Amino acid sequence: MVEILCFCGSLRQPSYNRAALEATQMLAPDGLNLRMAELGSLPLFNPDLEGPAEVAALAHAMAHADGLLIASPEYAHGISSVLKNALDWLVSDENFPEMPVALINTSPRASHAMAALREVLKTMSANIVEPAYVTLPLLGSALNAVGIAENPKLAKMLQKMLDELKIEIRENPRLSAVQKREV
Ligand SMILES: Cc1cc2nc3c(=O)[nH]c(=O)nc-3n(C[C@H](O)[C@H](O)[C@H](O)COP(=O)(O)O)c2cc1C
Repeated sequence: MVEILCFCGSLRQPSYNRAALEATQMLAPDGLNLRMAELGSLPLFNPDLEGPAEVAALAHAMAHADGLLIASPEYAHGISSVLKNALDWLVSDENFPEMPVALINTSPRASHAMAALREVLKTMSANIVEPAYVTLPLLGSALNAVGIAENPKLAKMLQKMLDELKIEIRENPRLSAVQKREV
């Protein structure tokens, strides 16, 4: 089983980003498991804090992940604080470098946050899987997860994104969590 850890940068209950991730979960083929990380319960990043339980749980999930899938809103041309806080906690996580990352942008106009997110991920030595980057025109659509999964055009885009991520995980020379489990 290939394990994908999902990061949602929005805490809003009817979030388009969460809906896109949940739709992707519904569309995942056999052999691919998508799990949502609980970023909203993380404490604010403080390097003085040692081992908060929520951070340990995130690190544990990272250790078992073969790839990441991130969907996050743009706020004031920046990354959401929820996502940035999680990434700050993961800066020194040994499993982050070379981690294959797929990205969902739920708003075509939100280019600033995506650029900033890419810069942060690059700085953290993640492997941004370009063919697994997808922009979905969800803003203002009123679609929920089921509506996205049942929309043939959107579903096809998400399925292709997962296929590309899966290919990268299979071909990546990094010792992935899949390979670690097989050793
Ligand atoms: C405080 C605030 C600031 C926002 N700033 C931007 C922005 O700079 N650029 C943009 O494209 N959208 C902006 N938006 C719109 C959000 O990105 C949009 O509502 C998005 O759907 C929120 O994500 P969610 O649906 O997953 O909660 C802003 C929304 C809020 C509430």
